[in-house]
Amino acid sequence: MHSIEGSAVYNFQYANPTRICFGEGQIATLPELVPAGSRLLVLYGGGSIKQNGVYEQLTQALAGREWLEFPGIGANPQYDQLMEAVALVKRERIDFLLAVGGGSVVDGTKFVAAAACFEGEDPWEILLDKAPVKAALPLGCVLTLPATGSESNPAAVVSRGEAKLSFYNPLVLPRFAVLDPTTTYSLPPRQVGNGVVDAFVHILEQYLTFPVGGEVQDRLAEGLLQVLVDNGPRALTEPTNYQVRANLMWAASLALNGLIGRGVPQDWSTHAIGHQLTALHGLDHAQSLAVVLPSLLREQSAQKQEKLAQFAERVWHSGREDRALRIEEAIIRTEQFFQQMGVGTRLADYGLTESCIPAICSNLKRFGLTALGEQQDIDPDKVARILSHAL
Ligand code: NZQ
Ligand code: ZN
Repeated sequence: MHSIEGSAVYNFQYANPTRICFGEGQIATLPELVPAGSRLLVLYGGGSIKQNGVYEQLTQALAGREWLEFPGIGANPQYDQLMEAVALVKRERIDFLLAVGGGSVVDGTKFVAAAACFEGEDPWEILLDKAPVKAALPLGCVLTLPATGSESNPAAVVSRGEAKLSFYNPLVLPRFAVLDPTTTYSLPPRQVGNGVVDAFVHILEQYLTFPVGGEVQDRLAEGLLQVLVDNGPRALTEPTNYQVRANLMWAASLALNGLIGRGVPQDWSTHAIGHQLTALHGLDHAQSLAVVLPSLLREQSAQKQEKLAQFAERVWHSGREDRALRIEEAIIRTEQFFQQMGVGTRLADYGLTESCIPAICSNLKRFGLTALGEQQDIDPDKVARILSHAL
């Protein structure tokens, strides 16, 4: 255990058992990855995999095997729909799940894996009450959208009405993740931008806190940020550049596979606030982050000043002497980067005004998210201030 803030890297354990199969053509390795004789269910989204050839590659790879499918998992996967998949799993005695798509499909599949084995009253308790998950079906994934890191982490986010909630459990870590950068060539620009912004914010939420001397964590984070800055805009202008797509895919995965956040303080307040914007107003996940983050960094700049100044210097190469100016330059450059990726950074970009703020604060209170940030000092009043500066 650490005692004095800023003294040293915290003690930690680290294990990430997800097997990563990276590169063009890796979908063909599925027969080695999915256990022989499995009663397999393939879950996917609204149809992109049928248009970009991924479904065809999957069918070829699994030729000779029996499998069922559950299509139509949408962005921000919905509890009611996922419970239909749970019913199918039970009815057909499915014993292995394969998610094929973006973070929503992977997250949805993780929930199905846990809900199918849940012994309590209602699997919604897994999200609402953090009811313990004691068993889950094994799962693997073919990822087609680099963004969330869900392909090799134990987290899942599920929505139901005005609630967007998450759970974490190592039992839902994918056994394997197939990362073929060519599957991302077909991403629309909006999802390219979303993915880069989401991964960028994941890194910042494990990096922009206070220093504890974690040089490995810091340099890894800064390196990954640099890769996103260098390759993100190129993915928009050169959508079939393999090298660019490969770098983005691996960077987004490492951004949230647990590695860079071990032993250092973390601040997931931008995500917590952003989830309410999605739940109440339907913003894409990354859009919500692009609105909240810059304003939150300004509000918290005093306590984050050392890391913000380091971020300015090492990622944005700011040469300004004055620390406050250097920090402001970093925040402006971050905003401009999000905008360059096509993701608006103001509430007005999504047709929202000041009137949306009280409901967001109420939702945070409803779900007990009233002491956010690495110092637990972001309460709903502060959130209101942060959002009012993001109009
Ligand atoms: O449904 P289809 O037709 O497949 O289309 C999807 C969807 O419309 C499309 N898409 C995906 N791959 C494509 C493609 N279109 C063309 N070509 C491809 N190769 O993209 C759209 C968005 O997909 P989605 O899965 O929703 O996006 P993303 O990967 O950004 O996932 C967002 C979800 O993940 C959660 C978010 O809250 C949100 O619900 N998160 C999960 C995390 C985790 N598990 O660790 C962490 C994140 O912070 C995040 O909260
Ligand atoms: Zn995210």
